[in-house]
Amino acid sequence: MRLLVTGGCGFIGTNFVLHILETHPDAFILNLDKLTYAGNRANLADLEQDSEHYAFVRGDIADKALVVSLIKERRLDAVVNFAAETHVDRSIAGPAVFAQTNVAGTLNLLEAAREARVERFLHVSTDEVYGTLGPDGQFFETTPLAPNSPYSASKAAADHFVRAYHETYGLDTVTTRCSNNYGPYQFPEKLVPLMRLKAKNDEPLPVYGDGSNVRDWIYVLDHCRGVELALLKGRAGEVYNFGGAAEMANIDVVKAILRRTGQPESLIRFVADRPGHDRRYAMNFDKARKELGFEPAMDFETGLDKTVEWYDNNPAWLESVQSGAYREFMDQWYKERR
Ligand code: NAD
Ligand code: TYD
Repeated sequence: MRLLVTGGCGFIGTNFVLHILETHPDAFILNLDKLTYAGNRANLADLEQDSEHYAFVRGDIADKALVVSLIKERRLDAVVNFAAETHVDRSIAGPAVFAQTNVAGTLNLLEAAREARVERFLHVSTDEVYGTLGPDGQFFETTPLAPNSPYSASKAAADHFVRAYHETYGLDTVTTRCSNNYGPYQFPEKLVPLMRLKAKNDEPLPVYGDGSNVRDWIYVLDHCRGVELALLKGRAGEVYNFGGAAEMANIDVVKAILRRTGQPESLIRFVADRPGHDRRYAMNFDKARKELGFEPAMDFETGLDKTVEWYDNNPAWLESVQSGAYREFMDQWYKERR
């Protein structure tokens, strides 16, 4: 197994690299990451000693010459594409970079994969491409794409290109769509680590709208196992949904975090809703169950215990990822929503 993993310094990419190297002792991973605000090379710095199994290259997935030469020189046989701009609120504030990385970047990566003749292109997508659900129903792989945010629109556009490269050029592609992840190494702009951070600092916890929007939460390692299964066993040209079978209203997630940090619920503040805020996501992953043997192993309460504990034990990591630029963006965002 010789993989080009893109975005390996982000939240899910980091967990994926660690998981693969732990479970496949013969694997080699080349991690290509641009190191945006969300990428932290230090996450996997220890692995850099072990050049037989891991190497890091700072670069952009939109740099075709670089990608082709890396695949050829390192004799890589598959691409696993995690690299993306991923935060919905940022996509509302500035959509252009989402089109650049998520659409143009993915297209470029597909082109490079075709030219360098890789055996498989695994594209990591999201449940958000399906849009929003009412109180009932689930998303299936056959549900028409109806993205509502600039982030999900850019991911949906990328998914269409992946499909087209399979249909038109016969590239061996597999697309995975997963629900909301939580766990170690998640950047503290997303709900779970942000609320834990605010609670620890005794700051108000900003809940959008009335807090009743529903997400299906999956522990990051379960998602990584799903991507691994899709890479090894998925059928070419197919899409596989993954979920955690753990639907929760945002307000209940926030309360569950407060119970763990010991802070009072009076810290919760209901703030202006996110524009275009999807009401509910729920994944049907029977296809992944049946074809890949996928099953999420972690229940939400245990997973949240582990996650809060990890952040408690890694204050230096949290401090290191909170750069000045990050703080500026968050301050401005909250000012507008107060
Ligand atoms: P993240 O924001 O934590 O990490 C993204 C990584 O991509 C960072 O390391 C960043 O430096 C890198 N990157 C960004 N632009 C790049 C570029 N042009 N070239 C190379 N590297 C670049 O994201 P994440 O939460 O780990 O998500 C990873 C993937 O999984 C994304 O494609 C996302 O859409 C998808 N996904 C995420 C979730 C979730 O809940 N976080 C759920 C389903 C799917
Ligand atoms: P987020 O972690 O940004 O993931 P996504 O938008 O990709 O689902 O948000 C999860 C949910 O939490 C979403 O419904 C928006 C809500 N939310 C808040 O209520 N307050 C916040 O400060 C953030 C970041 C999110």
